[in-house]
Amino acid sequence: MAKLMMRVFDQGFGHPSGLVGRLGGALMAKVNAEQETRAVEQAGLGSGDTLVVVGHGPGVGLRLAAEAVTPKGHVLGVDPSAAMREMAVSRCEEEIARELVEIRDGTAEQTGCADASADAVISVNNVMLWERPRGFAELFRVLRPGGRVVISVHRHVLDVEPEELRKDAVQAGFDRVDLTLRPRKFNSPAIELVAHRPA
Ligand SMILES: C[S@@+](CC[C@H](N)C(=O)[O-])C[C@H]1O[C@@H](n2cnc3c(N)ncnc32)[C@H](O)[C@@H]1O
Repeated sequence: MAKLMMRVFDQGFGHPSGLVGRLGGALMAKVNAEQETRAVEQAGLGSGDTLVVVGHGPGVGLRLAAEAVTPKGHVLGVDPSAAMREMAVSRCEEEIARELVEIRDGTAEQTGCADASADAVISVNNVMLWERPRGFAELFRVLRPGGRVVISVHRHVLDVEPEELRKDAVQAGFDRVDLTLRPRKFNSPAIELVAHRPA
């Protein structure tokens, strides 16, 4: 029974696919919108910036980021789930038509981006699914010097101590690493990490 529950959970949220994945996506779009909003704010984006959003899920953060970088910036979303890419494409139809948003198959470990091509990278509720050292190294590689990464994750889904994220970030070369636990009324604390690629 526990194994079945884990499988359904993974199909809905971790590696969304099929109907369960789409239901999970609809739920995430509501429940995680506050976290996506905050992550976009923490990225300190400006018009013309280039941003990579890893594990965008249903695409709420992509739309918010597009608003922050318009009219000349670029938001690239990468997610390994075809179901989530489809939901995000439909949510961001207008932004895609305006060439503000692009959506591709990819992961934190393999974004497909050029070296030093992004001003910022955002990840909400997917760091627990990465091979973390590879993911942090990849995000460091795609950020320009001075660029910043913002990672936010529910405390209850992260299977390691939050401090491990700081260690991973430092190991990958990031500096000015800020790690906080933000208490919330209706959910476990949000773990938020903001770090910079040295200029
Ligand atoms: C729990 S959902 C979070 C979606 C959205 N950011 C949110 O908070 O509502 C996890 C997402 O991460 C994606 N994902 C799975 N493995 C990943 C990886 N290695 N790198 C990046 N994203 C991954 C999944 O396909 C899924 O869309």
